[in-house]
Amino acid sequence: MDCYHIQGGVPLAGEYRIKGAKNSALPVLAAAVARPGIHEIHDCPCIDDVFVMEEILQSLGADTQFKDNCLVADTRNICSTRVPQEIMSRMRSSVFLMGSLLARCGEATITRPGGCKIGSRPIDIHIEGLKQMGFDVEIQGDEIKCRGRCRGGRVMLSYPSVGATENLMMAATCSREETVIENCACEPEIVDLQGFMKTCGFDVSGGGTNRITVRGKADNEIPVDTMYFIVEDRIEAATYMAAVLGTGGRAVFRNIRAGLMEAVLGVYQRMGAKVRSFDNVIEISAPAKLKSPGIVVTAPFPGFPTDCQPQLLTLCTGASGLTTIREGVFDERFTHKKELIKMGANIEICGKNAIIKGDTALRGCRISAADLRGGAALVLAGLSAKGETTVDNIYHIDRGYEKLDEGLRQLGGIIERRTSD
Ligand code: EPZ
Repeated sequence: MDCYHIQGGVPLAGEYRIKGAKNSALPVLAAAVARPGIHEIHDCPCIDDVFVMEEILQSLGADTQFKDNCLVADTRNICSTRVPQEIMSRMRSSVFLMGSLLARCGEATITRPGGCKIGSRPIDIHIEGLKQMGFDVEIQGDEIKCRGRCRGGRVMLSYPSVGATENLMMAATCSREETVIENCACEPEIVDLQGFMKTCGFDVSGGGTNRITVRGKADNEIPVDTMYFIVEDRIEAATYMAAVLGTGGRAVFRNIRAGLMEAVLGVYQRMGAKVRSFDNVIEISAPAKLKSPGIVVTAPFPGFPTDCQPQLLTLCTGASGLTTIREGVFDERFTHKKELIKMGANIEICGKNAIIKGDTALRGCRISAADLRGGAALVLAGLSAKGETTVDNIYHIDRGYEKLDEGLRQLGGIIERRTSD
């Protein structure tokens, strides 16, 4: 098992280019199954979750090649509609294959998906939506079998679930009738999935709003070769920017548009950060002393992203004043709290709220990651702490950040990857 060894206290400075978004690459790769063809997906992050998705595509009969952030998936010969249980348990995004297999083959068999332990994470909204669209869904223990065809019409999501929105967008492409999905999530990654689906020749519109319309076509079976570039990763950007603020630094980030992360930049500015942006470049500078942002509530886009909550919590330990962060999306996303307390943080959890007493100087020590974003938040804590920090179980971080240590070293951070003793 590898770990990160970090020497804290060095202000980060310099330039870094933001990579492609994990949370777009995964649904886009799943959607490649819905349309036969050779799909060339560029700016695909080299992370474990993408490797797992690649394995799933191969298990279904696709040929793939992944080199220099370009993943080529040849999905002309899909010969299975069952996602192996062993792979399903490793990543929640495997659930996207329901929609794309139903679109392509009219059936799909999956088991309950795995993924970060950040709450119960059921898939009832996905299943309810598929049933509203006219599919038969049979649940036998952990196995979920879906079959049939989408009859079009109107589907209402009980909550703007990102994954359910994406799954139903894909499933609806097999109907020649029009399907309108209401109460959709509006995340930029959904807009990106829509862009890829249009490249495949699917008629999808409304991505980024809470109403998405899909009109199926007769020629779904005709192979289409595509080339697509994944949208930049706003969560990676928010994570690196938090590292700069937490160490009192200043840095320029390329390949990131401020419009994708307004809520995050607004909170960072409330804390005293100076932000300048032009086109797809953002410069961020830390104030002499960070201030508490007051109350922050995580919410679906365009609200403050839940995937940036653990990083913000770490940042608030060093800001002056008391901060309340309300986790409004997941029911267990303060997993890294106890590790931060080991470093000297003063954090109380009351239900969905974390109350952080600021002005706490963190001390380096040995800590462990328990999930992807919580693990990244612990790396940020190590960078701003006095002394040395070791973060264990960094395989959680490898799922969603490509070479995080290399990127932070590029900004002057003292961090190296080691094998845990
Ligand atoms: C996506 O997960 C992201 N993952 C998550 O990022 C992100 O945190 C989340 O959206 C919210 O933005 C990918 O895109 C691969 P949801 P998803 O369905 O689709 C509940 C990261 O760190 N819910 O919007 O699983 C659910 O339990 C990951 O990159 C149901 O109750 O999120 C949660 O409380 C973590 N029933 C809330 O809705 C359902 O059928 C939001 O979930 C589906 C969801």
